[in-house]
Amino acid sequence: MKVHQVILLLCLSFAAVHSLDNGLANVPPLGWSTWNLFWCNTNCTALPDLCVSEKNIKEIADAMVASGLHKLGYEYVNVDDCYLAKERDPVTQKLLPDPVNFPSGMKNLGDYIHGKGLKYGMYNDVGTHTCGGYPGSKDHYALDIATFKEWGVDYLKMDGCYEELPVYHYDYTDLHEQIDSQNANIVYECSWPAYVMKPNEFDWAYLRSICNTWRTYGDDIRDNWGSVKGIIEYWATEDIAKYSAPGSFHMADFLTTGQGGMTDDEYRTQFNLWSMWSSPIMLSTDLRNMTAATFDIISNAEVIQTVSQDPLVKQATRVRTINGVDVWVKELVQAHNYAVAFVNMNDTESLSATINFADILPNVQNQEFIVRDLWLHQDLSLAAQSFTSQTLAPHQSQLIKIELNLAATKNMRKEVA
Ligand SMILES: *[C@@H]1O[C@H](CO)[C@@H](O)[C@H](O)[C@H]1NC(C)=O
Ligand SMILES: *[C@@H]1O[C@H](CO)[C@@H](O)[C@H](O)[C@H]1NC(C)=O
Ligand SMILES: *[C@@H]1O[C@H](CO)[C@@H](O)[C@H](O)[C@H]1NC(C)=O
Repeated sequence: MKVHQVILLLCLSFAAVHSLDNGLANVPPLGWSTWNLFWCNTNCTALPDLCVSEKNIKEIADAMVASGLHKLGYEYVNVDDCYLAKERDPVTQKLLPDPVNFPSGMKNLGDYIHGKGLKYGMYNDVGTHTCGGYPGSKDHYALDIATFKEWGVDYLKMDGCYEELPVYHYDYTDLHEQIDSQNANIVYECSWPAYVMKPNEFDWAYLRSICNTWRTYGDDIRDNWGSVKGIIEYWATEDIAKYSAPGSFHMADFLTTGQGGMTDDEYRTQFNLWSMWSSPIMLSTDLRNMTAATFDIISNAEVIQTVSQDPLVKQATRVRTINGVDVWVKELVQAHNYAVAFVNMNDTESLSATINFADILPNVQNQEFIVRDLWLHQDLSLAAQSFTSQTLAPHQSQLIKIELNLAATKNMRKEVA
């Protein structure tokens, strides 16, 4: 074998396990999706403000900018299922929007969203139909990617309803190749793993070489603690953290903050963990009339910048459970910086937990850390070797950043010398 063949082979094998390098989504995408608010409501006479329509989506885009969320990093406005007409164009076979709810068409909506400085997300399905029963992309992958490109789509979620299990591999690969060869510049979200749900048997390395992000857990999120707890347990126990990388993110489903089914403590915990996991955060609350409490949670700039959008994009792992309090750790890009979340998983008792940093971090014996609370926005200690969380109500969490205090460590070395 000649040297250049060996190099080529090395490159190929590297490419096969590397994350999708299309230059898009180097940090987890932040935005909003229609699904958990408008669902598949298409009757705008019955639900004028809560149906899937261009009017409502434009209002959401307006609110994303007016509320200041855009400045914090939320930029995607994603149309989920139930925006299409029931049939394709009989002549061109192109997808058509619902003519009543999208009278100006999908390109017009994209232009509007782009005009606000935001990005435009779209939905379809690799099978014959979408989950809501609208035309799927099967047998029309090239045409549909060309159509989405024409509409100005920046983000595409491809669902997996109405398809046979053995075919997903080819479908999601074909679509990736269409996006790639048509230079469509689209962040590609694949629902594939949610349909096959055997984490240990799944080829995550292949998946991340063709998709930017993917749903990781099969049950759709519901706005209650039981549902969120199921997701937390999955992320705590499945060995999937190593696949998180720039351009490749496990997606923990929509954020339900503000829907009313959980307490503010629970919503804060959800927001903390989605950020700790480097999951994309797609809001589903009604941005047009959210409460101050909802806005406070989703607009915590310190959590967004320091944790969710940290460029190393590590996925936190659960390193300990102490008396029912889960301790999650995420390594940050700045050397010797970590985010640590304490989550009281107990349903009835208020609890706290203590950790010695040396027990959960590599090579930090006798070293001191600056501890900062990312919700109080203040330093709690400048020289801690251990930390006791606040007393946490059931399902409450505390999120801190710890940073090796280099000054203290230097002084200590001097004393030792
Ligand atoms: C839509 O809702 C209105 C008002 O509730 C109802 O009268 C109408 O029949 C519904 N249309 C369809 C197509 O279901
Ligand atoms: C926001 O408006 C929608 C639609 O009108 C309504 O159903 C919902 O209850 C409102 N939410 C809040 C928090 O006021
Ligand atoms: C947490 O909750 C359960 C009841 O569900 C209780 O039996 C358990 O002992 C509690 N406390 C701790 C520290 O785990």
